[in-house]
Amino acid sequence: MAKSKSTAFFCKECGYESSKWLGQCPACKEWNTMVEAPLVKKESSGRAALSGISGVSGNLRMTRPVKLEEVSLNDQDRISTGYKELDRVLGSGIVAGSLVLVGGDPGIGKSTLLLQVCRNLARDGHRVLYISGEESLKQIKMRASRIGEISGELYFLCETNLDTIGECIRENKPEIVIIDSIQTMFCESGNSAPGSMSQVRESTNVLMQIAKGLGIAIFIVGHVTKEGVVAGPRMLEHMVDTVLYFEGERNASYRILRGVKNRFGSTNEIGVFEMAEHGLVEVPNPSEYLLSGRPEEASGAVVACSIEGTRPILLEVQALVTQTNFGMPRRTAAGTDYNRVNLLMAVLEKRCRYEMSRYDAYINIAGGVKMNEPALDLAIVLALVSSMKDRAVNPKTIIFGEVGLSGEVRAVSMAEQRVNEAIKLGFESCILPKVNLDKLKKYSEITLYGVSNVREAIALI
Ligand code: TYD
Ligand code: MG
Repeated sequence: MAKSKSTAFFCKECGYESSKWLGQCPACKEWNTMVEAPLVKKESSGRAALSGISGVSGNLRMTRPVKLEEVSLNDQDRISTGYKELDRVLGSGIVAGSLVLVGGDPGIGKSTLLLQVCRNLARDGHRVLYISGEESLKQIKMRASRIGEISGELYFLCETNLDTIGECIRENKPEIVIIDSIQTMFCESGNSAPGSMSQVRESTNVLMQIAKGLGIAIFIVGHVTKEGVVAGPRMLEHMVDTVLYFEGERNASYRILRGVKNRFGSTNEIGVFEMAEHGLVEVPNPSEYLLSGRPEEASGAVVACSIEGTRPILLEVQALVTQTNFGMPRRTAAGTDYNRVNLLMAVLEKRCRYEMSRYDAYINIAGGVKMNEPALDLAIVLALVSSMKDRAVNPKTIIFGEVGLSGEVRAVSMAEQRVNEAIKLGFESCILPKVNLDKLKKYSEITLYGVSNVREAIALI
């Protein structure tokens, strides 16, 4: 009889399990992603993992099916973090019993943000436990001294053993727990090194059981790999309720918190912060921030409007088009989709008879933000034409609209919000899809130009 194996191979990307090594994962078709890891023992997974945490297993699963009318909701189910920018991304506050993953590059400010949130929560009378597996208490105190005074029921623990952490949470009964970071945590039942895929998965599983069982909201910090995904299996994202990414340029001071998954609110919502001398500061009006320092009357620069979640954000699209010196023109796109820029240039070439293949083109979204909404298409096209003809677009004009392959300008969602944001910031005219214009009311503050194809839009600048 064959000996039962104690290890198996798992795909780093999707968590697919196989008894032998494979070059390509059959599930997600990625190459070279299978790694060997110990098999998780049956009794250590799921509910049984909690057998050591008494008091949890009792209310883990409901044994009797109930009607929704019998479930009561109360106002305290959502806790404000003290930051409007973060509350909105979470869907109006923290939900009790939820598991939130905060991902981001090292040094972007994840620990700082969560420490500041802890300070706010403790100040508002909540009981908070901050568990760090990365920093000593001294280091945390040094950081805390930069962000200001800490008062109230905020406790710190430097620990990486999840079994001990489970005990501690049960004794302390906090409302909110921070785990910094998941890659440093391990549980004894996992019997592989911390940070390995099976440990990360096992640890998240244990934390999920604690969160759901005791009704505690848990924030998990996760480091991001070079490819920009949370290290460890992508499965981690499926296990948690909410996934937030904290992103930003290293040399720029602002940071964007983006919701990519949320069981309790809309996704793609963003919150903007600025890293300052004393920690992170909210930026309540990102449009003003992104447009500050804009060169007036420069060719190739136009203002576009993108909707992020439920909020319109104005930003500057810059293009630089120059004659190419080589047979093969160079194209770059910073802050937006490179392939989309190529497509839009092909539309200009074919539908408007511009000889784009003779020009190099560089596109940049000013401020280093990343925006990929199709509504930016028209702004990119007009920025390209403006730079090519060296003709400046009126700096008081904003532009939005999706461009199709035949050069038609297609309708976008939430046109009214975009126009209102432009009025708020003092813009005088707006180039938008004709289909959208027909549905809008008349404005006295702003002149609206509806266009149905790219050629009409170019004629306006
Ligand atoms: P940190 O929160 O340690 O990042 P992460 O946990 O994501 O790895 O961020 C540390 C960075 O933030 C570091 O480069 C210093 C900077 N910082 C400030 O500029 N001002 C401050 O008040 C604090 C606390 C940090
Ligand atoms: Mg950190």
